[in-house]
Amino acid sequence: MKIAVIQGPNLNMLGIREQQIYGPMKLEQIHQQMKDFADQNGVEIEFFQSNLEGEIVDRIQECYGDAHGIIINPAAYTHTSIAIRDAIAAVSLPTIEVHISNVARREEFRQKNLIAPVCASSVVGFGPFGYHLAMIGMVQILNEIKAAQQAQQA
Ligand code: DQA
Repeated sequence: MKIAVIQGPNLNMLGIREQQIYGPMKLEQIHQQMKDFADQNGVEIEFFQSNLEGEIVDRIQECYGDAHGIIINPAAYTHTSIAIRDAIAAVSLPTIEVHISNVARREEFRQKNLIAPVCASSVVGFGPFGYHLAMIGMVQILNEIKAAQQAQQA
């Protein structure tokens, strides 16, 4: 079981950027916690962060035939990127979207979300803990898919 974690623009600045909104935790710390959970559950995990839309599209495409699920925080591209939405739809892998902040309580321009409709689920407003919740959810989804496939073969 392999999960790809994809982080969008400015998430490399976690721990520095707007701490009153995103908290003090750095991206490396979040990834370490996800890696620990993955190891405990026998799951392979790969991390990627980019500030560039096209690189995120490329990374999503690379998941096709390689990863079993995607956990993505598209950051600001959530509100603008048809290309990232189309890439997620194209690879057709179970995808969970994470937002550290509760975007519903923020500015008007953040109320538009192009990504959520192509995701299995969204985890919003739990701070960095949302990534852990997404891991639990993804392992559950992948186990259900596996069980359904096994039942079909039996
Ligand atoms: C974010 C919310 C986005 O609106 C913002 O542009 C981000 C981070 C979040 O995790 O809360 O960069 O995706």
